Amino acid sequence: MKIAVAGKGGAGKTLVAAGIAYLLARTGYTTLAIDADSAPNLGFLLGLSSGDADAIVPVSKNEALITAKTGTGYPGVYTLNFNVDDVVLKYAVPTPAGVHLLVMGTVLSMGTGCTCPANSVIRALLHHLIIDRDEAVILDMEAGVEHIGRGTAESVDMMLVVSDANRQSLTIAGTIARTAHDAGIPRVALIGNRIVDVGQERVIVDFARAHNLVVTGIIPFDPAMVRAGIAGDAISALEGSDALCAIGDILSRINPERLKRPQARADTETLT
Ligand SMILES: Nc1ncnc2c1ncn2[C@@H]1O[C@H](COP(=O)(O)OP(=O)(O)O)[C@@H](O)[C@H]1O
Ligand SMILES: [Mg+2]
Repeated sequence: MKIAVAGKGGAGKTLVAAGIAYLLARTGYTTLAIDADSAPNLGFLLGLSSGDADAIVPVSKNEALITAKTGTGYPGVYTLNFNVDDVVLKYAVPTPAGVHLLVMGTVLSMGTGCTCPANSVIRALLHHLIIDRDEAVILDMEAGVEHIGRGTAESVDMMLVVSDANRQSLTIAGTIARTAHDAGIPRVALIGNRIVDVGQERVIVDFARAHNLVVTGIIPFDPAMVRAGIAGDAISALEGSDALCAIGDILSRINPERLKRPQARADTETLT
């Protein structure tokens, strides 16, 4: 299963991605979390020290990976298949949360016509990652909609769009949801985050109704999150917190069993 998490900057994408990845790993899924934000910070919430996080070589700078995937001997022809085992063993970093972490790195020109090998490999990895039934990939996306519909997110099974009750955050969430739907993502759902009262919850629900969106959960404002942020605590330290309980409820509503599906293979592809 491949789940992407998107939303305005600061909406709570990394919290939701880390929470879902942590809970899935604890349930026994081999879980790969992909930090596709150009300012990556998912590693901290998954329990990495800043030293360990800083030592990660992002995919965009991983010459060995890029050469392995693009060195077919034919210009423009890349080996595109990746399976989770392969990526986990060779390129991802284990984290204390039990989740394997892959950092994409800065992919500024992605989707803007640049076909340089690093970008092709990143696009291919997201697109062609083959997932077995007991594996999960959680994608913490760049803020905004830039990645969607340009080869990054079309292959995901579900897009979770995170927003607080703020109008700007909801407007961006609406655009992301529409783009995700148009890109053919089969399930798109809204998560209300940092919600302080029933009035804010109503704002989320009304927005969703007006935009024909499903609300898959409401995460309350949680002072434990603020404390964890200040202390630099990992998601596992939030066990029993209102925020992580709400993410657990979201996960059961998503019902990972329904998202399980083996993926088709395509050995090579010419990227233009
Ligand atoms: N439900 C919540 N309650 C309290 N603080 C939250 C909550 N969700 C997120 N935060 C805080 O808001 C900030 C932004 O969250 P983050 O997940 O990093 O957003 P994004 O990845 O979308 O930029 C972080 O400091 C985080 O601790
Ligand atoms: Mg983030």
